[in-house]
Amino acid sequence: MKVLLVNGSPRKEGNTYLALKEIAGVLEAQGIETEIFWIGNEAINGCIMCGGCRTEGRCAINDIVTAFQDKAVQADGFVFGAPVHFAGPAGNFCSFMDRLFYSCVNDGKTLAMKPAAAITVARRAGTSASLDRINKYITYGHMPLISSSYWNMAFGAKCGEVLQDEEGLQTMRNVGLNLAYVLRCIQAGQAAGVERPQHECGARTNFIR
Ligand SMILES: Cc1cc2nc3c(=O)[nH]c(=O)nc-3n(C[C@H](O)[C@H](O)[C@H](O)COP(=O)(O)O)c2cc1C
Repeated sequence: MKVLLVNGSPRKEGNTYLALKEIAGVLEAQGIETEIFWIGNEAINGCIMCGGCRTEGRCAINDIVTAFQDKAVQADGFVFGAPVHFAGPAGNFCSFMDRLFYSCVNDGKTLAMKPAAAITVARRAGTSASLDRINKYITYGHMPLISSSYWNMAFGAKCGEVLQDEEGLQTMRNVGLNLAYVLRCIQAGQAAGVERPQHECGARTNFIR
C-alpha cells in the first residue's frame, strides 16, 4: 500500500513538510510506503474552464498537476497539506487542487473511495478556515475523511518551528495511525469481497433553473 502526501508549500522542507514527515513516519513504521510530493514553487495555473478534462479524462494543461494525477492512480491514500496564506490554503496549492479534483474526481480510479486527510500549518491563525477548504475537496470526491485527536493542524512560523508544537505533532501522528487503520480496513474489506458502492450521478440542479 502507498500513501501520497502533498506538500502544498512553496518551501520544500518547511513546516508543512515537517508535519507531513511526522505522518509519513507513522505510516512507514506500519509497513505502508510513502512519498512526499512537493508541488514546487513555480506558478501553477488555475483552472481555465476549457472543458478539456471532460473529453480527455485529464487536465489539458500538462504540468505538475497531471504528473501528480498519473502517480495518484497507483496510490491507496492521500494527505493534502498546505500552509496558511492570508487565512486560506496557499494560492498555488488551491490552483493545484482545483485542477486535480475538477479533472479526475469522477474517473473512479484516481481519488474516489481512497481515504484522505487534510492538514494545515500556520504561524497563528487561519488553520480552521484552511482545513475547511481542503476538506471540501476530499468530501466532494467520495473519499473517506481522516480525522485525529484534534483538528488536523500544527503551528510554526520559521522553518522548523513546527517541531516545537508538541500537540501539533501528536495530532499528525494520530492522523497517520487513523489513516493506516482505515487503509487496512479497506484492504480487509476488499479481501472479504466487499464491493465499492455504485454511486448515483447525473442530477445536477443549478439554482437558477
Ligand atoms: C503570503 C503569506 C501569508 C501568510 N498568512 C498567514 C496567515 O494568514 N495566518 C498565519 O497564521 N500565518 C500566515 N503565514 C505564515 C505561514 O503560514 C507559516 O510561516 C507556515 O509555517 C509556513 O509553512 P511552510 O514552512 O510549510 O511554508 C503566511 C505566510 C505567507 C508567506
